[in-house]
Amino acid sequence: MQSVFKELEDWNAELRAQFPIITASPELAYLDSAATAQKPRAVLDAVRTYLTTANANAGRGSYPWANRTTALVAQARERVAAFLGDPAPDRSAVHFVSGASEGLRTVARDWLTEHLTAGDEIIVPFADHQANAQPWLEAQRLLAAQGVRVTVREMPYQASSHDYDPARLAELVGERTAFVAATHVHHVYGGDLNVHRIRQAVGPSVPICLDAAQSVGHLPVDVGTLDVDFVVFSGHKAMALPGIGAIWARNTRGPEFAPGGWAGTPNTSGIVSLVAALDWLDAAAPARIERWTVALAARLTDGLRRLPGYELLGCQLSLAVDSPVQQRHGIVSFRRHGTSANDLGFVLSTHGFLVRADSHCQARAGEQEDSVRVSLHVYNTPEEIDRLLGVLDAL
Ligand SMILES: Cc1ncc(COP(=O)(O)O)c(C=O)c1O
Repeated sequence: MQSVFKELEDWNAELRAQFPIITASPELAYLDSAATAQKPRAVLDAVRTYLTTANANAGRGSYPWANRTTALVAQARERVAAFLGDPAPDRSAVHFVSGASEGLRTVARDWLTEHLTAGDEIIVPFADHQANAQPWLEAQRLLAAQGVRVTVREMPYQASSHDYDPARLAELVGERTAFVAATHVHHVYGGDLNVHRIRQAVGPSVPICLDAAQSVGHLPVDVGTLDVDFVVFSGHKAMALPGIGAIWARNTRGPEFAPGGWAGTPNTSGIVSLVAALDWLDAAAPARIERWTVALAARLTDGLRRLPGYELLGCQLSLAVDSPVQQRHGIVSFRRHGTSANDLGFVLSTHGFLVRADSHCQARAGEQEDSVRVSLHVYNTPEEIDRLLGVLDAL
């Protein structure tokens, strides 16, 4: 692990220096990137340049700024498809939305409701983020109102790791299984939920929608190898501005995805920020970002395991990316016996550690106790982890 830090030390220092909010507050450690990521200067500059040189509406005017904005939105669709490894990046495969929540809801309303027929079954991951549960239940309600009854089944989990359970999933899948919603990286446990095994378990013909909110920008997300039908993510978690996100649709299993209704003015400055963020991430190399954040998470989990009184949540760590054992990415959640997560989060903030402490929007909120979540990105350092462990140890 030490070798990853040594090897990538200069790379990390150079990237970290590009985040004005991070360099302006060296006494703080921002450890809440699963909620939203900080923005590199290139993204801030791109938005400023656009707004001060070419701001106009898209698809409406015929003067240069408007034409440029129209072209920029069209090119941004191709950029998103290319970033996701689409071997034939096609602008019609990408649709802009406000974020992952709206993206998943749009797939549910505008595609799933068109796709299902009475008696169909869908599989939903209720222990994941509520954004990946509510839309599918809403689709079920909308269909029921039209007299089309569909059954929602729960994605099976392994209790020990919070990973999906592909063996039980395979048993659950039947002739009427028409759709599976899955998550790439869990937003509390940090585990890679291993989409390959989901595809193997459900067979080649069932559409899968992947919530990639915690993976895009953190690791390579490649639709060339991930055999899924939709990839949905939020720009703000991938270093773009809030209010922009995207749906990528493969459009080969089921009806062509076409969002309904009048979309109105697109979030052009958000789209500009997204393109700049994807360019920045590509230059930084998502595979390196993954190695860095996985190594940071390993340092934290190793340290936490040695501290008495702390309970570490989620998967067992495995660092081999192709290991059959679930891999933990840069998200680590834990509890301290005898201290509420809320209190612990507050104490950590007084020491300069900006973490999240609550139930983290899990779909089955209330069943889970609150926890403190540390979520990492490329601007975090091993020194921050060591300082955090020191403070936790001293409590
Ligand atoms: C796994 C996952 N899915 C969906 C979302 C929703 O993202 P947004 O709030 O950007 O719509 C989040 C946000 O935390 C998330 O972690």
